[in-house]
Amino acid sequence: MNLVNNVLMLLLLVYFSVYECARILTIIPTPSFSHQIATQPIWKELSLRGHQVTSLTTDPVNDPQLTNLTEIDIKFSNNIKKLMYSNHFQTYIDLYDILAISCDAQLERPLIQDLIKSENESFDLVITETTRPVYFAFAHKFNCPSIGITTLDTTPAIYSVLGNPTHPILYPDYWLSYSKDRSIFDRIFSVIHYVFIMIHDKFTLMPMYQGIMERHFGKDYPPLQQLIANMSVQLVNTDPIFRQIRPMTPGIIPIGGGLHRLPPEPLSNDLKRILDNANKGFIYFSLGSNVKSEFLHDERRNEILAAFAELPYTVIWKYGNNSIPNKPKNVLIYQWLPQISVLNHPNIKLFITHGGLQSVTEAIYAHVPMIGIPFFVDQFKNVQEMVDDGYGLHLGRENLEKGYMQRTILEAINNPKYRIKLKELTKLANDQPMTGLERAVWWIEYVLRHEGEIHLRSPTIDIPFYQHYFLDVIALLLVVFLGLLKVSLTILKLTLKFIFYSKRPKVFH
Ligand SMILES: *[C@@H]1O[C@H](CO)[C@@H](O)[C@H](O)[C@H]1NC(C)=O
Ligand SMILES: *[C@@H]1O[C@H](CO)[C@@H](O)[C@H](O)[C@H]1NC(C)=O
Ligand SMILES: *[C@@H]1O[C@H](CO)[C@@H](O)[C@H](O)[C@H]1NC(C)=O
Ligand SMILES: *[C@@H]1O[C@H](CO)[C@@H](O)[C@H](O)[C@H]1NC(C)=O
Repeated sequence: MNLVNNVLMLLLLVYFSVYECARILTIIPTPSFSHQIATQPIWKELSLRGHQVTSLTTDPVNDPQLTNLTEIDIKFSNNIKKLMYSNHFQTYIDLYDILAISCDAQLERPLIQDLIKSENESFDLVITETTRPVYFAFAHKFNCPSIGITTLDTTPAIYSVLGNPTHPILYPDYWLSYSKDRSIFDRIFSVIHYVFIMIHDKFTLMPMYQGIMERHFGKDYPPLQQLIANMSVQLVNTDPIFRQIRPMTPGIIPIGGGLHRLPPEPLSNDLKRILDNANKGFIYFSLGSNVKSEFLHDERRNEILAAFAELPYTVIWKYGNNSIPNKPKNVLIYQWLPQISVLNHPNIKLFITHGGLQSVTEAIYAHVPMIGIPFFVDQFKNVQEMVDDGYGLHLGRENLEKGYMQRTILEAINNPKYRIKLKELTKLANDQPMTGLERAVWWIEYVLRHEGEIHLRSPTIDIPFYQHYFLDVIALLLVVFLGLLKVSLTILKLTLKFIFYSKRPKVFH
């Protein structure tokens, strides 16, 4: 019995050890720090677990201790920052154009060309950002399974390719910021937006990425749409406590929230002293990595500084330049800060943020009330959710007037309800069997263990559309119904005729 057990144990060990050294290719092509920082903990963890990870990234971590992590820098100078003020649809079109063009440029890089052309390189798994889908071609190239990942929620177009339910009223896209009781105008706009992005995806984006794939990988690849739908699982950076509730097929895994529970980087001595000495408390102000604070024009910036100047709090401003005109004494600027440590400092009173998902999540878990000044993409929605859920306030870019700003700041700091709400919600969010990071790693290794054969593909993908909308069923039932109708009418007519015919002679005789 013991022997059998030991042999079984040994077999099990051999079975699992096959994957101790899986070779994984990870690709986050989006040239935005927030996309990189959201996924780095996963690559780091995979490499520490003994996998050989090759990471194509636009912001390498360059940590010499991570000996199993090889990083290829694919940074491409981008124009994302020029985007933020155009209208809704134009911003959407421009952003996705720029991102597609940056993929095209990245694929021309010699190191990536080496990968595309190499004949002796091999990988057991490709993990890539689903919203820049051309990189799924690598899974075909290396004949291995693929996993899609998004650093935000994902678009209705992708949900639809994966056979997941979409609905513009129940689950509006993350580009839209509707409060829970949507007006009829919100709903009309949501439907227009939905139809627009579905059409844009099908007739502009997909052909564009298909072209990019053919140019760099060759014409003998299956259609890109097929390669995307062939992914084993899709990891999405959402969690149902703080984001909208929506149905997900079992192959779509929410990994939100928990990715940020890694040990925070320490504060520098200088910063630690300033925060420790802020005995009335401090406000942390940061507009994230894409919306550089210098983009606020002079008038708005002066209004903000004037509002800060009269407050009793120290203000820590993450600002892209090391000098700022008209800076009051209580405002300190830093070009870079260990954000998680700042948010977790006991003296923090408030976080004024652009509402980027990573920043909001970090502040939520640190129980810091927020004021959101959204600029683009998902930020409007994130800020609306913080208002709806009662842990933050919204401040429009056009409302940055001194008095109004001060009142909003004082409300957020002095009213305890925001902090109480955060404690309630994080208590729920923390009460889960696994953190987001653990869930991501578990699913990645699950796909590796079963070489992609995990059978979680939504049946919607493989069903013809006439069956999906049961058009054939309706058609057949209609034919039967019409047939029966015709037969009954004929019988009725014959019966009537018969009665009529058989009665007539009696009348006339
Ligand atoms: C690298 O991977 C090996 C197994 O392949 C593992 O034993 C080792 O601990 C890993 N090293 C680091 C620093 O992650
Ligand atoms: C593949 O071959 C190239 C030279 O042709 C070599 O430099 C490289 O190390 C090889 N890679 C692997 C994984 O064997
Ligand atoms: C789909 O993925 C499986 C492995 O997960 C692979 O064997 C198959 O070749 C892929 N199909 C295409 C069209 O790439
Ligand atoms: C920083 O501010 C100075 C003075 O206002 C200005 O000349 C310079 O262009 C700014 N640098 C950046 C990176 O914005």
